[in-house]
Amino acid sequence: MTEGNLLRQILEYGNRPNPYPLYAELRKTPVLNEGDGAYVVSTYWEILSLLHDPRVSSDPHNLAVPGGPGFDPEDGSALPPSFIRLDPPEHDRLRRMTNTSFGPPHKPRRVHEMRAELGDIVSGLIEGIGNTDRIDLVEQFSYPFPVTVICRLLGVPREDESRFHTWADTLAASLDPMPGEDPTERNKIAQKARTELGMYLAGLIEERRKNPRDDMLSELATLKGPDGSMSTMELLSTSALLLIAGHETTVNLITNGMLTLLRNPDVLQRLREDPKLAVPIVEELLRFEPPVQLVPNRTTLTDIEIGGVTIPKGASLWLVVAAGNRDPQRFADPERFDPDREDIEHLGFGSGIHSCFGAPLARLEAQLALSELARRLVNPRLLEDPPEYRQNAVLRGPRHLPIACDDIRP
Ligand code: HEM
Repeated sequence: MTEGNLLRQILEYGNRPNPYPLYAELRKTPVLNEGDGAYVVSTYWEILSLLHDPRVSSDPHNLAVPGGPGFDPEDGSALPPSFIRLDPPEHDRLRRMTNTSFGPPHKPRRVHEMRAELGDIVSGLIEGIGNTDRIDLVEQFSYPFPVTVICRLLGVPREDESRFHTWADTLAASLDPMPGEDPTERNKIAQKARTELGMYLAGLIEERRKNPRDDMLSELATLKGPDGSMSTMELLSTSALLLIAGHETTVNLITNGMLTLLRNPDVLQRLREDPKLAVPIVEELLRFEPPVQLVPNRTTLTDIEIGGVTIPKGASLWLVVAAGNRDPQRFADPERFDPDREDIEHLGFGSGIHSCFGAPLARLEAQLALSELARRLVNPRLLEDPPEYRQNAVLRGPRHLPIACDDIRP
């Protein structure tokens, strides 16, 4: 098997249920020259080092050959790039400003204070399940949950949530390419959704500037701090980023989580008895089945020597965090799902200046979701294993997760 074949195999749909043996092969060449200016990095320490390297850029304008694989939330957007695709100092300015309304030191309790509301959303979804002979956990639970949460966080009025869900679903679906399908129609639909979402948010921002409330959009719209204010365009691209970056990813964490727990009934039973175990379970899931399998869209600003290879300036990097997370040089017994492991500095949220902004929220969502599903579903079981996966190799996760249970506990 040639190395080039290996990457193609990883991207092949048939390998979506279990790409991990291929990642193990890939790690034999930590830094792999794919040709066409692309380099694939698959070992933990090399990935970590590149994620922290100021000679590596997230701005696609620095690519020698434009294009590349996609975890590209802004593909085809009329909006300016959001901070995930910017380098310092612009990245840092926008991230800092967004954070004044999201976490420490300005809003240390923002996520914590959402706990009760998140719990209510989870309960509402579980109560709405209906027929327990066949539940599609994705459609009925993991998919609607994160988008409802982001609506509440941003301050989208309840009566508009369903419109917001539709836009979010369309945009998330556009990140999941279908081989053989002509993407023109889907791109057109995504573009339309993006424009409608942008216009909707612009109206809401205008309204919140006049009548601010206790929500993130109001705070960002009226912010006047050491970094100045956010322009309407910056605010639009930031809110669209928060919506899209936290959608498919959180869906996959919860779905991968339930799938893994149903394959490990002893751990599921322990979680049922001790909901606090959700904390280490979610961390181990982010290592073992990370929703973002690889971080593409990085470029070298200069030649970089790493893993015995000189990556030339302008190369595009694919950092396969899911392979790094199972690197035996970093983690003992890495192919085992073990929520009791103490050393668990995974790459599931990336690392360095672009490490996941929404991580505290994503963690809490997944912890609440999994502990409640474990507690309330009586004798849950998988109806298909492996389930049907989405096409996307980057944001990898099941398209449907059919399960059944005997009853739902109050
Ligand atoms: C389980 C769920 C999630 C996973 C696995 C995840 C994963 C990631 C990863 C790997 C990155 C790094 C990308 C890079 O280095 O280019 C990232 C960045 C980001 N994530 Fe998440 N994410 C999740 C949920 C969320 C949520 C809920 C939000 C919003 C509330 C969010 C907002 C962001 C933002 C804004 C960035 C860009 C950070 C920056 O460029 O400084 N994410 N995420």
